[in-house]
Amino acid sequence: MKIISDPLALQQDLKEIDKTVGFVPTMGALHEGHITLIKRAREENEIVVVSVFVNPTQFLAGEDLDKYPKKDDADKKICELAGVDILFFPTAEDMYSKDEVKICAPNVRGYVLEGATRPGHFSGVLRVVMKLLNIVSPTRAYFGKKDAQQLHLITLMVKQFFMSVAIVPVDIVRDSDGLALSSRNVYLSKAQREEALKIPKSLYAASKLISKNILDTAKIKEEMYAILAPLEIEYAEVLNRDFEMIQKVEIGNTIILVEVIVGETRLLDNIWF
Ligand code: PAF
Repeated sequence: MKIISDPLALQQDLKEIDKTVGFVPTMGALHEGHITLIKRAREENEIVVVSVFVNPTQFLAGEDLDKYPKKDDADKKICELAGVDILFFPTAEDMYSKDEVKICAPNVRGYVLEGATRPGHFSGVLRVVMKLLNIVSPTRAYFGKKDAQQLHLITLMVKQFFMSVAIVPVDIVRDSDGLALSSRNVYLSKAQREEALKIPKSLYAASKLISKNILDTAKIKEEMYAILAPLEIEYAEVLNRDFEMIQKVEIGNTIILVEVIVGETRLLDNIWF
């Protein structure tokens, strides 16, 4: 496995390779969820590139940028074992310069849900993902469905900017207790983790209602809020897959999303119908 930190060197290397490239962008602290993305990229492409970069522009002032879990050595081992060909490990100086041209998240879909609680977050995500995709020029790029709004906005960016990469959504990976895997789960104490299990429980309750043909979104949200209480609920929302409000669940076109704060940890989860 090659480890490269210079964006231009990586871009040059990949230009010389006439093979399909699968790309998995990450912020490191790799877990089973990331490994699933890498395995999928490995199955579907000749070359696999993973990036590890804790992107400062997607953190708001006062968020956990400085304490975001860092496991560089473990990440390198995991990538090696998973058959990654190139690990891209840039610094913030490698990725950003002063007074840059910027890409912004759309005014509506970039500023609802997580975008409302973290205004500007998605502009930072799109900014770095645009750079990463331009550096790697992958055939396919893999993103987890757990960050459903991020996935939606990246898919939109790729379409609206006529970028030639296939964005591949990959299912959420859960721990045996049902909690969706996230690098931020390490912040949770044992008691907080117990509390956090209300999140998958609320999604399970929503899916039970839907299986009984109760499709009214207000009813589903009411049930979810009752289960999630007294956690600090940022939102529990039932939307169509374009992130628009709906009154009734449309099977095949609906996402139910939850964001709660447990202690100081922001946790996201969702389920697709
Ligand atoms: O999902 C993440 O880990 C990050 O938001 C991403 C896509 C790697 C951009 O920094």
